[in-house]
Amino acid sequence: MIKSIGFKKVKTAVFISGRGSNLKSLIKFSKKKNSPISINLIISNTNKSYGLKYSKIYKIEKKIINFKNSHDAENKILKILIKNKITFICLAGFMKILSKSFIQKFKGKIINIHPSLLPKYKGLDTHKRVIQNKERITGCSVHYVSPKMDSGKIILQTKVKIGKNDSVKSLSRKVLKKEHKLYPAAIKKVFN
Ligand code: GRF
Repeated sequence: MIKSIGFKKVKTAVFISGRGSNLKSLIKFSKKKNSPISINLIISNTNKSYGLKYSKIYKIEKKIINFKNSHDAENKILKILIKNKITFICLAGFMKILSKSFIQKFKGKIINIHPSLLPKYKGLDTHKRVIQNKERITGCSVHYVSPKMDSGKIILQTKVKIGKNDSVKSLSRKVLKKEHKLYPAAIKKVFN
């Protein structure tokens, strides 16, 4: 459990690779009085992330870090995190795997959101696989990041019912809506 001291919000970085809808929901949450975190940095592995636009809209510093050499990339990120006094990391659609040594350095301080009821459906294309397997219930999970992908301790989950006519698109929309509520709730739980 991590405590935020007094009224000082915990300086947080959000790592993205794409659309950034969870980033947007986290930024909105962070601005609330009762949010334990402030978002001070956005990191993306590509300049093509649509979510980078929130840096401009909300005046949050952004850094684009090329992961061609992931060791160098992580070293760069570590320096930037230290410089910005970041002590908490939220992965939100970040498509790169962080190394064991990076995760160890931020042990218990990196969390991720995944669009399935973990431990079921780790990895990519969750909604497609869920529908193919004719599941009736799916959901989303926020978990601590451990060296094994999508396997760290679960913080919070929400269930979503799958309708007979749900497609990958309609299901991902439904789950995403829940994700935007689940991520802030999980962060509250982490700091409580
Ligand atoms: C979300 O479904 C999240 O659970 C997964 O990647 C997607 C990112 O969406 N890890 P967005 O970029 O936050 O819109």
